Amino acid sequence: MKALEGVKILDFTHVQSGPTCTQLLAWLGADVIKVERPGVGDATRKQLVDVDGADSLYFTMLNHNKRSLTLNTKSEAGKEVLERLIRECDVMVENFAPGALDRMGFSWERIQELNPRIIMGSVKGFGPGPYEECKVYENVAQCAGGSASTTGFLDGPPLVTGAQIGDSGTGLHLALGLLAALYQREQSGRGQRVLAAMQDGVLNLCRVKLRDQQRLQRGPLTEYSQFGEGVAFGEATPRAGNDSGGGQPGRILKCKGWEDDDNAYTYFITQAAVWGNICDVIGKPQWKEDPGYATPGARLPKLNEIFAAIEDWTMTKTKFEVMDICNPLDIPVGPILSMKELSEEPSLRATGTIVEVDHPERGRYLTVGCPVKLSDSPVEVVRSPLLGEHTDEILASVLGYSEPEIQSIRESGAV
Ligand code: COA
Repeated sequence: MKALEGVKILDFTHVQSGPTCTQLLAWLGADVIKVERPGVGDATRKQLVDVDGADSLYFTMLNHNKRSLTLNTKSEAGKEVLERLIRECDVMVENFAPGALDRMGFSWERIQELNPRIIMGSVKGFGPGPYEECKVYENVAQCAGGSASTTGFLDGPPLVTGAQIGDSGTGLHLALGLLAALYQREQSGRGQRVLAAMQDGVLNLCRVKLRDQQRLQRGPLTEYSQFGEGVAFGEATPRAGNDSGGGQPGRILKCKGWEDDDNAYTYFITQAAVWGNICDVIGKPQWKEDPGYATPGARLPKLNEIFAAIEDWTMTKTKFEVMDICNPLDIPVGPILSMKELSEEPSLRATGTIVEVDHPERGRYLTVGCPVKLSDSPVEVVRSPLLGEHTDEILASVLGYSEPEIQSIRESGAV
């Protein structure tokens, strides 16, 4: 038994944001039916292709545990099948460009008419307002949601981050909304519409930067490196490089081997409670009692000097040695791990966070498994479906079409 066993999801999503949401729901046990255009499918199947003729990793890594049904939802026969799917499913998820579903003839009103219990989840770039008609991709969301303006170094341009907070982050927000709507339906008996706008999702993840925007009106942000450097603050939350963003100052520091290895670095947090341990480890025991260094407030204007001294020490150790030495002393540090290191990490394999999957077209590949672990709802990662792999199976077993009916749908070109 899985947490979402029995929940049927009509998955009308494509690219990244919507598919991450439905993949999570599939891992939690829902039956996810991915509807794709016949002969074409989700555009990502053929994007960034690394094995000729095979579905790309872009597609496979976002569509595990789903079934694929091809359907031309703009044809008459296709619309009929879609109507039956809407009647049959608990949740419908889509992330088309604004207006695409309406143009297809499936407004929210029409969908509710077909199934008042259905929950419809949508990812859009922006919520209602001046930009709601815009198409949006990951980096646009990062820029419009406050992430880019607050990422990077003070003297450099805004930066986007490697974490797909616009797409995967919004998919995650949508999944939360859908689960809440399913729970509410238990009481109300009604479905509802769930909207996750990418700008809103990114802004939610940048919450602490809006905190700083308001603090800025009351004076300089003393935990930012630029405070100690004497650089004046402007009107908006500045880019803070690798500053920790919390009340405990932190930086990324070089470790042994940094000259040749781009990832020979550690994150190092000078947590106030273990300041004495830090001083001992880096060979500055005199800083423990010195009033110029002994309190967090006294240290704030001297962060560059302090982190330079810590880095003199970290540069004599590998990033893993830093971890081994600091952890027993409760000093929070973290090695900068490359994708290569993560993909080879045995403990992540053991927990199913990194899994190896077999695929008929491309052979074995690595993917990220379910990032949340439920003790009573285990996850087995199943390879992504080939285009239309389950069309007949879904028409027959989910929608109850007979063999001759399926044959006639096929002949119409709708699947
Ligand atoms: N049968 C028939 N037509 C189908 C179909 C099917 N099974 N599936 C999709 N289509 C049609 C749509 O109806 C639409 O037609 P229309 O433009 O004539 O109305 C068309 O395919 C293209 O859909 P669209 O969503 O506009 O795709 P796109 O490639 O032009 O845009 C995005 C891609 C991601 C920019 C856009 O979908 C978007 O902004 N989505 C919302 C935000 C989002 O999720 N962004 C992140 C993506 S990771």
